Amino acid sequence: MVNFLIFGPPGSGKGTQSVRLAEKFNLLHLSTGDMLRAEITAGTELGKKMSLIMSKGELVPDEVVIEMIAYKIDNSKGSFGFLFDGFPRTVAQTVSLEKMLNDRGMKIDKMLVLDVDHDELVKRLIARAELSGRPDDKDPAVIENRIEVYKEKTEPIIQYCNQKGIYQPVNGMGTINDIFKRLSDYMKKLI
Ligand code: AP5
Ligand code: MG
Repeated sequence: MVNFLIFGPPGSGKGTQSVRLAEKFNLLHLSTGDMLRAEITAGTELGKKMSLIMSKGELVPDEVVIEMIAYKIDNSKGSFGFLFDGFPRTVAQTVSLEKMLNDRGMKIDKMLVLDVDHDELVKRLIARAELSGRPDDKDPAVIENRIEVYKEKTEPIIQYCNQKGIYQPVNGMGTINDIFKRLSDYMKKLI
């Protein structure tokens, strides 16, 4: 098994690229944002509790997403590895993920971080708002808050992973195809 983190701020292209990379390399794409939105759509108790937090662009509690990911790791078969998108988002989530993987004889093999200019992030998310129906895309103030939360709570994971020698920055500017090629080239070295 080879396990990757696709990392980067909101709008950096994690979801877009993950779908394609998962198909190309037979990886299981695990997006905590998608899982949480599925709970909201299904009208579950958990979804109801999380929707307000998400609509403000704040992070849901660590234990909620850790439990979701643990369940997926234990109930997924047949892929060559995992592609984590939007998880982990705090150093505490990273430590939990490492433990989950280590307990099962695996590790995080590479963290691929998409670097995208602030203005481009905002432009992409505003453009998506019309189509996605995501409440957290609708309000520019919420978009800015998501970027701030990323800087404050999520970015410290980069330093943590850099110390472990698994950090790989990737230029996330340009066309979707160009970025896909860059990411694929890094992943090929490990697969
Ligand atoms: P999540 O769903 O993870 O959202 P996010 O991090 O805010 O990021 P996005 O999904 O908006 O962006 P992306 O990087 O995937 O970019 P995309 O490919 O879509 O999280 C949502 C919320 O859930 C969080 O705020 C939090 O409340 C909660 N949550 C989730 N996980 C959590 C966790 N682990 N812990 C705690 N809370 C958690 O691209 C964006 C747009 O740009 C698209 O329209 C796309 O078509 C377009 N685009 C992509 N690439 C390009 C390109 N190269 N050129 C032009 N347009 C492009
Ligand atoms: Mg996404």
